[in-house]
Amino acid sequence: MEVIILPDRHKAAQMVARIVAKELRANLRLVLGLATGRTMERAYDCLVDIHRTEGLDFSLCSTFNLDEYIGIPADHPCSYRRYMDERLFDQVNIPKANTHLPDGMAKDLGEECRRYEASIVAAGGIGLQLLGIGSDGHIGFNEPLSALRSRTREKALTPATLEQNAPMFGGDPANVPRRAITMGVGTILDSARALMLVTGESKASILAKAVEGPITSMVTASALQLHPRCQVVVDEEAASELKGIDYYRWVFANEPEWAEFQDLA
Ligand code: F6R
Repeated sequence: MEVIILPDRHKAAQMVARIVAKELRANLRLVLGLATGRTMERAYDCLVDIHRTEGLDFSLCSTFNLDEYIGIPADHPCSYRRYMDERLFDQVNIPKANTHLPDGMAKDLGEECRRYEASIVAAGGIGLQLLGIGSDGHIGFNEPLSALRSRTREKALTPATLEQNAPMFGGDPANVPRRAITMGVGTILDSARALMLVTGESKASILAKAVEGPITSMVTASALQLHPRCQVVVDEEAASELKGIDYYRWVFANEPEWAEFQDLA
């Protein structure tokens, strides 16, 4: 795992977008794993900007989102399908048929989860997985105690997650669906590369647990310590409780891979 600390949330989002753009230019058929949430909005804004100003081509890539709420239709204003269409898919040249989210309205949810896993495998596996972290340490909707080898399945959301996501549902946690389909921790760990974006003071303590604490299903993001190629891009506020800050900065300044990103530091 590597931690990259940038001055603010805008630069952190730019970094994530530039890494995605670089991967996509190197492999036009990239299979992207996508996350939703407020943190990721800025990264998608930057990606759309790169598409408009530099012609970044999405026409051959395909996408698989981490999760979708159960019980709200795709055209519901708060569905993750709607979020992705509005924030990214409708703003770039990706064919809709190449974009995938679990169907939270499927009659047989278990079958839908198996189908989703199989479609990721059929696409060749996820090349680059974008992630955020929940206030309870979740990645995707893998809430505390999720098995670290779990696959796509139904999951009940914690009160902390309902609280975190309430602003998108008019501010009341009671309006947030209580269940979701999510890729499992094991599904996420199978990606070739993982890139987590974490910003803001409110995520500082959980980020420190995920990155520097023990690997535990109580903080499913800590399982990323097992990922062979995981980078965590954070702003100064989110980094404020990390113990190894000086070392992380040193690595970022000295690794050749990051030379082209030094303007963001
Ligand atoms: C949603 C997802 C979640 C979010 C996390 C952070 O698709 O994967 O794990 O990334 O809940 O959400 P924000 O950015 O809204 O704090």
